[in-house]
Amino acid sequence: MKVLRVIANPKTVESSASLKIEQAFMSALLEKHPDAQVSTIDLYEEEVPLLDAKLLPAFFGAPPADAEVERQRERQKEILEQFLAADVVVIASPVWNFNAPPKLKAFMDTVMVAGKTFRYTPQGPLGLIGEKKVVLCSASGLLYGEGHPFQETLSTMLQNQFAFMGVEKLTILTAPGQGAGGEQAATSTAAAIEQAKAAAAAL
Ligand SMILES: Cc1cc2nc3c(=O)[nH]c(=O)nc-3n(C[C@H](O)[C@H](O)[C@H](O)COP(=O)(O)O)c2cc1C
Repeated sequence: MKVLRVIANPKTVESSASLKIEQAFMSALLEKHPDAQVSTIDLYEEEVPLLDAKLLPAFFGAPPADAEVERQRERQKEILEQFLAADVVVIASPVWNFNAPPKLKAFMDTVMVAGKTFRYTPQGPLGLIGEKKVVLCSASGLLYGEGHPFQETLSTMLQNQFAFMGVEKLTILTAPGQGAGGEQAATSTAAAIEQAKAAAAAL
């Protein structure tokens, strides 16, 4: 089993609920699958090029405009290969302004590649990575769902993106309500950690 950890949080584990959930998930997973090969991409430590005016044409196959764009394309390909090689993808991400931190969006822009992770057919788009298991470990300041006025779009964004690439079910392990601090935040994190252990044991 090859596991890719995608760390989309610049905080330390001690100060982050989503990273604590991810850590619990990985510990339980490695207990069950000690031979798992784990690789990590830390999006706040490592380069994830942004699609800009120069990189965008090269992303779609045009010759790189200069050496810098060529280097960025190589980095994008490296990220894509790392992603494609994984059987299990574990994403640790906070909710920021109701969505993903920008580095996670940049990562998704890098791995959503026609002909690699999806393709277009006369019947519509076809996902090519349906055999992967994807787990989102997240945390938010607010509570969401019925009775709450706002919606977070981190989980729905990833659900859509992975469904488009063929992954039917995203496992979501989340600790909402961190903004309240104290007991509520701790209880929410502890519950998500228990869910993480169960989800890892089921893999
Ligand atoms: C820049 C920033 C924006 C945030 N925006 C939201 C938000 O829109 N909705 C929300 O519920 N929480 C928001 N929060 C709170 C975080 O989601 C919360 O602190 C959560 O615990 C972050 O996960 P972490 O503990 O793993 O870092 C925001 C926090 C930061 C730093």
